[in-house]
Amino acid sequence: MLYARTVNVLLLGGGGREHAIGWKLAQSSRLDQLHTAPGNPGLATIGPTHAIDPADPAAVVNLALRESIDLVVVGPEAPLAAGVTDAVRTARIPIFGPSRSAARLETSKSFAKSIMHRAGVPTAASEVFADAESALDHLSVRKPPYVVKADGLAAGKGVLVTSQLGEAASWVADCFSGRFGPAGNRVVIEDFLDGEEISVFGLCDGTTVLGLRTARDYKRLEDGNRGPNTGGMGTYTPVPGHGDTFVRRIVDTVITPVLETLAADGETYTGFIYAGLVLTEAGPQVLEFNCRLGDPETQALLPTLESDLLDVIAACTDGNAAGTELHWSGQMAVNVVLAAKGYPEAPVLGDEIRGLDEDEPGTLVFHAATRRVGLRTETAGGRVVSVVGLGPDLDAARDRAYDRAARISFSGKQYRTDIAQ
Ligand code: GLY
Repeated sequence: MLYARTVNVLLLGGGGREHAIGWKLAQSSRLDQLHTAPGNPGLATIGPTHAIDPADPAAVVNLALRESIDLVVVGPEAPLAAGVTDAVRTARIPIFGPSRSAARLETSKSFAKSIMHRAGVPTAASEVFADAESALDHLSVRKPPYVVKADGLAAGKGVLVTSQLGEAASWVADCFSGRFGPAGNRVVIEDFLDGEEISVFGLCDGTTVLGLRTARDYKRLEDGNRGPNTGGMGTYTPVPGHGDTFVRRIVDTVITPVLETLAADGETYTGFIYAGLVLTEAGPQVLEFNCRLGDPETQALLPTLESDLLDVIAACTDGNAAGTELHWSGQMAVNVVLAAKGYPEAPVLGDEIRGLDEDEPGTLVFHAATRRVGLRTETAGGRVVSVVGLGPDLDAARDRAYDRAARISFSGKQYRTDIAQ
């Protein structure tokens, strides 16, 4: 039992989401040491970092045994897809994350659809195809817009929404010719969902779901939702008009029925869950599930959570979350992502980042793709840092985030100026 003792935690991952999770875990009086793999320069200020592949089951088990880890927390989806949770559980080390089989909720869109249909969860009507010819025949009798998805994990690039039949058809052909590797061996074609997107997150103990606050993500690179799709250029939380009642409704009508359906198949779902929803005229419908928290949403959500995250994760891992209530600060949060020159196609690495260490009340900076080279901190990937502003309302939170973002500099810094406007 993890309950009521101090613990050594190993957090898997090394992005902005993991820096925020690690920062929040480190506030717990029950934390002994926070280890991360691979971590990042922000996480290195909290505890030891280990340069192993977090998606290598044997390497994670060995590290956990060597460092006397009491609890492993999984940040990104790659370790889930690689079976790290299964290997760690076999080694009898507690881990917060679903099994590889249950994580098909994220790693296979056709699996997620079948679970949602069985659970009676509202989602777009869809069909699954295992060969190009039948997928193309089906496309030819549909009306635009066309929504075509590679079944498996495709680094966030496996979804096309287009009004052009030719574009949809060549995308289907590309999928089956190996563009996404095995992830494209099956294709899901579904109805277009019209409406605003909103995300709801939860922590699950197998049966109980503790819902976090709502958030809205900005996927496009440029202001006004223009430019290429990205991993997310900013976020705010909570979404006005979508408070606790909305979250409870989504937990009751979407997430809990999915967990019950998985449980009926013998799958105990323990870990984070993320429902991406569209607010259609017919009500909220599920666009996708992820078996992790969102990035960049986490960086805005966790600074407004007052509850002890380590206590909550330990209770969920023990299968003991019933009766736990989450408490929130009442503040709003805005996260502005600073991205490298050339992101998303070809981010430029190695530019020195200045202004990271200033301290400014009501703001936080989470490292995402940075590295230390000697005494300098450099860009090391596309989304470089998350700058979070907190305030009593969205305007105050946004002003703080943008003031702080303006004082961080690196060559070619790109960011949206309309987050939460
Ligand atoms: N914010 C989108 C994601 O984490 O997938």
